[in-house]
Amino acid sequence: MNIIIKTKEQIEGIRKSSKLAGEVLLYIADFVKEGVNTYYLDQLIHNYIVEHNAIPATMNYNGFPKSCCTSPNDVVCHGIPSEDVILKNGDILNIDITTILNGYFGDTSKMFIVGETSDTAMRLVNATKHCMDLGIQQVRPGNHFGNIGYVISRYAIAQGFTVVYEYCGHGVGIEFHEEPQVDHAARKNSGPKMKPGMTFTIEPMINEGKPRVKVDETDGWTARTVDKKLSAQFEHTILVTETGYEVLTDVANEYQIS
Ligand code: MF3
Ligand code: CO
Ligand code: CO
Repeated sequence: MNIIIKTKEQIEGIRKSSKLAGEVLLYIADFVKEGVNTYYLDQLIHNYIVEHNAIPATMNYNGFPKSCCTSPNDVVCHGIPSEDVILKNGDILNIDITTILNGYFGDTSKMFIVGETSDTAMRLVNATKHCMDLGIQQVRPGNHFGNIGYVISRYAIAQGFTVVYEYCGHGVGIEFHEEPQVDHAARKNSGPKMKPGMTFTIEPMINEGKPRVKVDETDGWTARTVDKKLSAQFEHTILVTETGYEVLTDVANEYQIS
């Protein structure tokens, strides 16, 4: 187990890259609407990232062909932007952005609602956001990584939803995916302890029905719920500070630095 403690200089680099990733999500919001295809969104995102002197980290990552992930409805994660995926009223869509700026990685995603959606979909999206926020509130030196997954799974289950356990959060910053693995379902006080200077993601995927996912055999990436029910996800990149956390991808100033 080797969790990198980042230097001041590295943290500054990761902060800048994370800020850009967050800004991409603000930028794309106006374009997510009925009739638009996800390849068009990917092109806009690609150009925005490149124009800001950064590289979309997903492009060519283990063969992934596009500059972001677009995951609608029953797609849990790693959806590939495509002209054939045309947004319709009521869709819920996760867009996941990972930037490389001056060699540093920032990783964030959020849900978008196309027009008006069902009460169940809204409830799932809101519960998933709350799961991420509960996880973030567990970040402070000395706390166990497992407590992130503990509070997330407890809340998700209480809401009648399930936690995807086949994908996890991860250390991030110097590499795309570093140690540790950040589980979104875990036992209380399990796992390593957080230390100042660690940077990692919290990115719960919460399902309406069964927790299991299946990867599309044709494209090798798109992960869907086995029961075709809905899935939602939010993601932030977090820094452990001396006393708590800083949400590095929070460009809306929604979170206080603690
Ligand atoms: N951004 C995703 C994450 O949160 C990873 C996407 S990898 C890709 O870890 F290859 F699917 F793009
Ligand atoms: Co991630
Ligand atoms: Co991501």
